[in-house]
Amino acid sequence: MSKTKDKKSAGTLADKADKYKLYQKSVQEPEHEMDFFEQAYKDAFDKKPKILREDFCGTFAVCCEWVKQAGRTAYGVDLDDEPLNWGRKNNLAKLKPEQQQRVTLIKDDVRSNSTPKADILAAQNFSFWYFKTREELLSYFKTAHGNLAKDGLMVMDMMGGGECITEDQNDVRKVGNFKYIWEQASYDPITHDASFYIHFKFKDGSKLKRAFEYHWRFWTIPEVRELLEEAGFSQVHVYWEGTDKDGEGDGEWSRTTKTGSEPCWIAYIVAVK
Ligand SMILES: C[S@@+](CC[C@H](N)C(=O)[O-])C[C@H]1O[C@@H](n2cnc3c(N)ncnc32)[C@H](O)[C@@H]1O
Repeated sequence: MSKTKDKKSAGTLADKADKYKLYQKSVQEPEHEMDFFEQAYKDAFDKKPKILREDFCGTFAVCCEWVKQAGRTAYGVDLDDEPLNWGRKNNLAKLKPEQQQRVTLIKDDVRSNSTPKADILAAQNFSFWYFKTREELLSYFKTAHGNLAKDGLMVMDMMGGGECITEDQNDVRKVGNFKYIWEQASYDPITHDASFYIHFKFKDGSKLKRAFEYHWRFWTIPEVRELLEEAGFSQVHVYWEGTDKDGEGDGEWSRTTKTGSEPCWIAYIVAVK
């Protein structure tokens, strides 16, 4: 992740902005993730999960939400000190001391076995797309499988659809007093290498360009499903969002085996140990 500020932005809103705060406001909904984890775990095991491992945890907002419920523990794993330290100062510090004690942070590669076996292993916001070869992704899924308890499941999200691979396509959303811009910068149909940038734009016209950048492989659901099965997962489910009467997403996710084409979709992949 890197940040390039506009040369013209000194003293502007962009200059004063905190990119992680903007990211959390625009991209993450930890309360929604909790609901989904509980639903997927209930669907698989008809009980409640206790131990979470959040891979690629960044500022570990999900871990911090998780421990708000008594008796739960969370382990966040990320390679980068910068988001981990930001999360310590801005997310962890907001929790009660007793809750803070139930969060453990590990600066390490996600392909490590450095945590107790988890009920839920989450890898959110497409982060496993960093792994670009079958070999690398299979190795990660095998490690993830080993990091799960007997009644454990792995939760990931994926996106797709024609709009998601259209170069120079920008998804612009107003969030509070700034604009969040997701840029699909490039997509190679031969390798499926894809680059994405997150920019932020402010009321005074200043911009935080390429606040975050991602260079990923654009994986497809069947490829991921096959690799999860090869890694030893007993079942792999795709959760698709339902629609309301206007055809908009209704926030209700259910196991789905067949669906129609959509210009841009997000789905959860749930792999049961
Ligand atoms: C897209 S951010 C995701 C942050 C957060 N999980 C979320 O949902 O918003 C990806 C994070 O993965 C971390 N990362 C990338 N490769 C990693 C690896 N091999 N092991 C551990 N962390 C990694 C980066 O440092 C970054 O913080």
